[in-house]
Amino acid sequence: MEPTRSDDAAHARARAEAATLEQATARVAWLVSELQRHARLYYEQDEPEIEDRAYDLLFYELQILEERFPQLSREDSPTQRVGGKPVEGLEPFEHVPPMLSLDNRFDDDHLREFEVMTKEGRVTGGLVEALRRAGAGSLDAGGLEYVVEPKLDGIALELIYEAGRFVRAGTRGDGRTGEDVTHTVSHCKGVPLRLKAPYPREARIRGEVVLHIEDFVRRNEALEVRGEKTFEDPRNSVAGIIRQLDPATAERWPPSFYAHSLGALDGMDWPESEWRVLELFGRWEFVLTGRERVCTGIDEVIAAIADLQEARPRLEFGIDGAVVKLNEVSLQQAVGATSHHPKWATSYKYPAKEAITELVDVEFSVGRSGVITPVAILEPVRLGANEYYREDPDRPGSKKLVEVGGVTVTRATLHNLTYLKDRKLRRRSRVPVYRAGDVIPKVKDAIDDGLAAMRAEICIPQVCPSCGASTHVERRFDEKKERWIETLHCTNSVSCPAQLVRAIEHFASRKAMDIEGLGSKLVDQLVSAGLVSRLSDLYDLAHGQLSTLDRMGEKSAANIIDALERSKAQPLARVLFGLGIPQVGETTARDLALHFGSLDAFMRADAAALEAVPDVGPKVAASVLEAFASPELLAEILRLRALGVQFPDAAAPVSAEVAELPSAVAGKTFVLTGTLPTMGRSLAKERILAAGGKVSGSVSKRTDFVVAGAEAGSKLTKAGALGVAVIDEVALLAMLGDKDIP
Ligand code: IVH
Repeated sequence: MEPTRSDDAAHARARAEAATLEQATARVAWLVSELQRHARLYYEQDEPEIEDRAYDLLFYELQILEERFPQLSREDSPTQRVGGKPVEGLEPFEHVPPMLSLDNRFDDDHLREFEVMTKEGRVTGGLVEALRRAGAGSLDAGGLEYVVEPKLDGIALELIYEAGRFVRAGTRGDGRTGEDVTHTVSHCKGVPLRLKAPYPREARIRGEVVLHIEDFVRRNEALEVRGEKTFEDPRNSVAGIIRQLDPATAERWPPSFYAHSLGALDGMDWPESEWRVLELFGRWEFVLTGRERVCTGIDEVIAAIADLQEARPRLEFGIDGAVVKLNEVSLQQAVGATSHHPKWATSYKYPAKEAITELVDVEFSVGRSGVITPVAILEPVRLGANEYYREDPDRPGSKKLVEVGGVTVTRATLHNLTYLKDRKLRRRSRVPVYRAGDVIPKVKDAIDDGLAAMRAEICIPQVCPSCGASTHVERRFDEKKERWIETLHCTNSVSCPAQLVRAIEHFASRKAMDIEGLGSKLVDQLVSAGLVSRLSDLYDLAHGQLSTLDRMGEKSAANIIDALERSKAQPLARVLFGLGIPQVGETTARDLALHFGSLDAFMRADAAALEAVPDVGPKVAASVLEAFASPELLAEILRLRALGVQFPDAAAPVSAEVAELPSAVAGKTFVLTGTLPTMGRSLAKERILAAGGKVSGSVSKRTDFVVAGAEAGSKLTKAGALGVAVIDEVALLAMLGDKDIP
């Protein structure tokens, strides 16, 4: 792109050629952001601020700098885009018929059940008849045919072909509506732009788009060199690439599409089996994994899954299990589907990986209500990573095993004294650690190596590790586990610093008063300096007191004072939650605030009035009454008020607002599980509540949607069992009406 006026160009070139690395670094950053801004003004807002020639000169200068200092060349640099315009937003993409999910199986017995179910038609009623018609002979003799395929760990897509031409691609979204990502998918490998004849009037091809491990590792290395954020696993990396408005990254790091099923076919006979579908895909030059197998009977299925697991480290893409599908389409139809998943297919998830490490010690951590929780301190250990062979950069031609994804675990909660005792832990015990369904690491029983007697026992503290007051043990009967559980408590409810620190942290937290800047470190400082000894003291802090604290400047002190000031107007529900009344979590606080409307009405409520609130039972009511019986809490509330905390009356009942909220979410109950790739569970929860939805901790028939992220566990299984719809983060964002999905 040679600029038109050569003197300007010469000037740009001279400047670029004289720059030192340091100058160039700053200049490249500025040029990239400036060019991006102008591109947005030009393409998206139709309001260019500069002439094309001026843009070209900036572009030219950036090109020279990137040539001279290739290490400064960023992935999102405008120079990296070869044609292909960014889109302004992702348009909705409808799936007809919907893209269903799969239910999960976790072991061989579970797979055998699947076979029994499909065979006996226990689920379907109609299968026995269908088998007979299909001439399958005796049900017990011989097995059914299944196709076993890798369960690719990427992003589900549907591609539409009209008259043999690729026209559109969309993400799965909630299964019915996803997002149009044609602009990025057209750069993917394995997406033929034309189908070989014969082709139908319309075909909808479904599959998974992944970033190969090699590319994932390289992209992360490139990002790291430039100090940009890297991705935890290939799935997150490819999600970012596919859903970007700008196709530049998809061109630079083209992901690969693997076709696995047929969504619709118009003007051509549907193949008679799943295997024939794959053959058709092959003829159309879609890419298959090459690991698809036809198996007869469940034993062959189990063997094929084991083969796949063994091959896993050598595959060029990430997989998280295997998919098993009944081969014959006529049998599939007889078996049918729920609204959530086909009953003729299932997925087998590989078991959670565990690692063995050493227990360094057990720490006793004091919570805001005085409960003391044992926490295992572990020799750091990596968990949840997958291993792959990749080219060894130091020895060309040979491969080495690398770890991808996973986290380093150094602590794990031990919940309570009973849990601790059950594990038979001693100092320096060897313990298996795993990440169960959820992200939280768990510790198993200590390994019995006959050396326990040589290791120091874990002593239960007689005094609180924070304030030195005596501790006491409480026993309560756990109905679900049908056993007694022992918990440890600090007896000092008035002046224990650890409890106070935790209570203030909770009060200031994002979901409560949301006091920006008031994090754990500062709270610790305030409490140990004696500046704060109850919640309300926060509002008595003076700028001068804050600015003298370690690592606290004038400016940050002023920011904190501002944040405190702003928090005084937080809605009643947040203040109630922030007070930390036992049993009053975020949702209950919200229910109470909405029901009573004002703090005074709430404080006047008796047990009957409290229990009249939907979802408030005798346990919560008793806990609220007990809290308000305490003079300390009453005094605190009065003092908070006197210092300007407003406890504003709650807004009108929700029903009035619901109509204006995105109707997909309002009134629906969601359960969140696993790691959501971009928003995290607490943000997701906040957004759902703000849109008028509910968030519950456990899956039941009343759950409308389970939002599942990576490593989702038992909640997902339960959702499958109950036929509850499972959606991913993308779908949630779409339901929330979010256009700007990363
Ligand atoms: S078949 C009707 N085959 O798994 C059957 N799905 O839980 C529906 N997936 O996001 C899907 N590999 O994209 C099928 N070989 C495979 C798959 C596969 C990965 C994904 C699918 C969807 C999820 C369903």
